[in-house]
Amino acid sequence: MAQQRQQGFPWQFEGGCLHKLLRLYELYHERSKKTRADKELMRRAQHDPLQRTAMHSAERALQEHYERVQYGSKQYRRSPRMALPPLPQQLGDLADAIRHRRSVRHFGGLPISLVQLAALLFCGYGVTGYEDPQRRCFPRRAVPSGGGLYPLEVYPLVLAVEGLTPGVYHYEAYTHALELLTPGTLDEALAQHLLHEELAIGPAVVVVLSGLFERSSVKYDESGYRYTLLEAGHVGHALSLAATALGLGACPVAGFVEDGVNDLVGLDGVDETALYLLVIGQRW
Ligand SMILES: Cc1cc2nc3c(=O)[nH]c(=O)nc-3n(C[C@H](O)[C@H](O)[C@H](O)COP(=O)(O)O)c2cc1C
Repeated sequence: MAQQRQQGFPWQFEGGCLHKLLRLYELYHERSKKTRADKELMRRAQHDPLQRTAMHSAERALQEHYERVQYGSKQYRRSPRMALPPLPQQLGDLADAIRHRRSVRHFGGLPISLVQLAALLFCGYGVTGYEDPQRRCFPRRAVPSGGGLYPLEVYPLVLAVEGLTPGVYHYEAYTHALELLTPGTLDEALAQHLLHEELAIGPAVVVVLSGLFERSSVKYDESGYRYTLLEAGHVGHALSLAATALGLGACPVAGFVEDGVNDLVGLDGVDETALYLLVIGQRW
C-alpha cells in the first residue's frame, strides 16, 4: 500500500516526512478519533470525585447550551406556511419503525435468533439485486452508495445469538453468509473499548461498520472519505430501523476506542478502520 502511494504521490516524499505520505482525510481521521486516553479520562471522570464534579458542571453547561440550540428548528416566520397531511396508510410498518425508533442503552442479556441477526445484516448492507442480473454483475445493496463502490465492511461481534459461537464475524454480503474470524467471548473487550461501559452490559451483537477508504477515494479522492462516512450513516440507520421493526433495541455508537476495536476485528486502522458501531439486543 505504502509503495502504491509512493508511486501515486511522488511529491509526498519531499523532506522524508511520514505524514506527507498520508492523504488529508487520513490525517483528519487520526486527529479526530477516540483513543485509549479518552477512555481513561472518561473512567477517571466517573470514579474520581473531583473529576466527577468537573464533569457534572461541564454537563450542566452543555445542558444550558442544548436548551438554547437543541430545539431550534429554523422558522421562516415571514414566509407563507401550510400544514402537512398525516402519514398515508401505505407506509405501514415502516412508519411504525420510524416512530418507535429510539437509541436503546439497556439490554437484558437474552439472545437474539439467527434469523433476526440475518435480517439485520441484510437490511443494513445486504445485496438486494444486480444492475446486470443475467451476469450477476454490479451488485446493488440495501443502501445507496456513492458511485456504487460500497466502501464499507460489516463485522458482527456476536455475544448472544442462538446457534452461533460467540466471537468476531465478517458479513459476506454476496453470499449472505457469516465468516467466523475469531471465536471467543467479547464482553470484557467491549467494556474496555466502549466509552460508555453500560452499553457493554447485555447486548446480543455489536455490529462494527468499517471503512475501506481506497474503494471510494480511488474515484473521488479526498471526497471519498466524506462519501464513506455518509454511507456508514445510511447503514447505521437501516440497522436501527430494522432492529426496531424486529422488536429489538439498538444504539448507534461513535464513542469507542478505535484502535481497540480495530485490534479486536483485525483491521490496520489506516487502509481499513472501524467507523461506527451499532449495539443491538433484547431490550431490558
Ligand atoms: C453519529 C452518532 C453517534 C452516536 N454515538 C453515541 C455514543 O457513543 N453513545 C451513545 O450512548 N449514544 C450515541 N448516539 C445516540 C445519540 O445519543 C441519540 O441518537 C440522541 O440522543 C437522540 O436520541 P434517539 O436516538 O433516541 O432519538 C450517537 C448517535 C449518532 C447519530
